[in-house]
This record gives sequence, C-alpha cells and structure tokens, in this order.
Amino acid sequence: MLEEKISGIRAQLDAAIAEAKNPSDIEAIRVQYLGKKGLVTDLMKELKDVPNDQKKEYGQKINVIKKEAEDKIKEAIAAIAKKAEEELVNSAEQYDITMPVDFTGEGSYHPITLVQREVEEVFASMGFTIEDYLEIVDDYKCFEALNIPKHHPARDMQDTYYLDNGQLLKTHTSAAQNAIMRKYGAPLRAVFPGRCFRNENTDACHENTFFQMEGMMIDENISISNLIYFMKTMLSEVFKQDIKVRLRPGFFPFVEPGFELDISCLICGGEGCPSCKNSGWLELCPCGMIHPNVLKAGGIDTDKYTGFAFGLGLTRLAMMRYGIKDIRDLNSGNLKVLDQFKNI
Ligand code: DAH
Repeated sequence: MLEEKISGIRAQLDAAIAEAKNPSDIEAIRVQYLGKKGLVTDLMKELKDVPNDQKKEYGQKINVIKKEAEDKIKEAIAAIAKKAEEELVNSAEQYDITMPVDFTGEGSYHPITLVQREVEEVFASMGFTIEDYLEIVDDYKCFEALNIPKHHPARDMQDTYYLDNGQLLKTHTSAAQNAIMRKYGAPLRAVFPGRCFRNENTDACHENTFFQMEGMMIDENISISNLIYFMKTMLSEVFKQDIKVRLRPGFFPFVEPGFELDISCLICGGEGCPSCKNSGWLELCPCGMIHPNVLKAGGIDTDKYTGFAFGLGLTRLAMMRYGIKDIRDLNSGNLKVLDQFKNI
C-alpha cells in the first residue's frame, strides 16, 4: 500500500519536474510535495495510524522519498537557472572586439599610478628593488607570518574579505613581506606597491579598495635613523620641498618599536591651519623596526640582521599630492576627474 503510494508520488513528481519551465513552476511543485499540506508531508501524518511494529520501516521509506524529492527539486532549480543563463548569453547582442572605437581623446595615467611611479623612482635610486605581489593570499601571509595569530585583536582593525576556499583579499601590502624575505634573504631593500581590500563603508575618506606601498630594508646595523633618513628623502622628492618628519609611538604587531610617521603640514608648513587641525602635522605613514618573529618567519638570521618596514598609504599620498578631496573619485572611472591628470 505504502509502496504503491510512493511510486505514484515519484512518477507524478518526475512528470511535473519535466514540465516545469521556470522557478515559480518549481516552487509550486515544492509546495505541492513538500509543503505543509504536501503529498510527501501527508504521508508522514499517516504514520500515527500505522501499527507500532511497522512504524520504523514506514518512517524510513518516507524519509527516502522525502530526500529524493528534495534532491530532485534542487537539481531542477539549478538546471533551470543554467538554462536561463545560457539563453541570456545566446540572446545578448554580440559585440565585435575588432570594431574600431569612436575615440579621439588621449588617455592618461591614473593619479595613483603617477604617485606610485614617483615614489618607486626615488626608492630605486636608493638601491631598492620594486616587487610585485598577489592580491589573493592566505591567512598565514596576511596575518600569522606578521606576528598576528588567530583571534588576535589586531585582526579587528582590518575587516577582511574571506573567500570560500579559505584564502582572502590582502588587507595590506605587509602580506608580501614574508614572501619577499624568503625570495631574497638578507641583506634586502625592496618596495612593493599593491591594491588592498577591506570591508569598509565608503565615504569621502574611506574606500574598500585602496593602494599602499610597503617598503623594507634589512641589513646589519639598521636602526630607526635609517628609517627616518629614507622616508624624509623620499617625501621631500615627491613633494618637491624640504619635508620635516616626526615619529610618534604606534602599535602594529609586526614591528617593535612601531611608529606613526607625521610630516609637516604641506599647506601651512607647520604653522597650524584647518587642514592639519592646527597641529602643524599630517599623519602619513605607519612604520617601525621589523619584529624578530617576522624576520624569523621569513628565514632571516635575527642575531645578524635588523630591519625597518613602512606601509605608505599611496591613495592618501595621491590625495594629498593632488588635492583630491573625495577618495571615491579615484575608483570611479569618471573621466571628468581622471582626464585632468593628462598633462601631468
Ligand atoms: N600594514 C599596516 C596597515 O595597513 C601598516 C604598516 C604599519 C606597515 C607598520 C608597516 C609597518 O610595514 O611597519 O595597517
């Protein structure tokens, strides 16, 4: 009796699914079979009238058909979605990549590219190599190798986009430190620009996608004086004026001691104005002496070598350099904004 009912339901369900054309047809089928008053659900209700010694077998058989119905419906939803996508692609207007473009204007470099190249040039002239690195990295590279273990509160500062496969979009260029140490060993001088990602709400000062330029110098007898010298030289070149810098203590797990590097305000020269909130200083670049744990993770002999690292906000630097007030203009692709950098 039950067997018959089940095979009846199965045949009916298969026929209904074969007929279904769109997601709402499938939803109707789901309700008809698995809904509160559905045919499969009704079988369950009959369970109470079944003699006790048959209840177990009866229940198992119903579970089988229930699972089967669920799977078939899931497959049908996927099949319909796939078909719809195929139809959409086939029906879309095909575009011809060989077609000449009606474009007479001249392109221009993006302001971030302009600043990036300037900074790269200055560091290259001081013996630094320029390195490229991945945008998708693993937890080890982005955090653990930088002395930020799992559950460390420093992770909260960087709201991270995790991918389904456990990897993540790098939240800072520091994620390349370990690979570059392992690639070259000590002594080492390298800068590495890169796109970084954090789950930020965007406003005039915040973006979920931004650029940094990281730098590292590792050698015998490297100290904070070296760090100050290189930063001051680079910034004075980029801003084409003598830039004063100062260091304030700052905490980052991958440096010890860590600092925030400020520069004298570009607008008032240090007198105090609204741009620098009357302090005469602008916060520009976190930096510090590389933590021994980070050097060790990179295979560097900490008895022999020390080093400094910095994480320059390239996006922020470009905004300061060109007086761009809204960070969102930079990723907007808006030619009205970007066109203005043509002659620079
Ligand atoms: N990676 C840090 C961030 O994005 C910035 C940073 C701080 C980089 C100190 C460094 C450093 O190399 O020494 O928040």
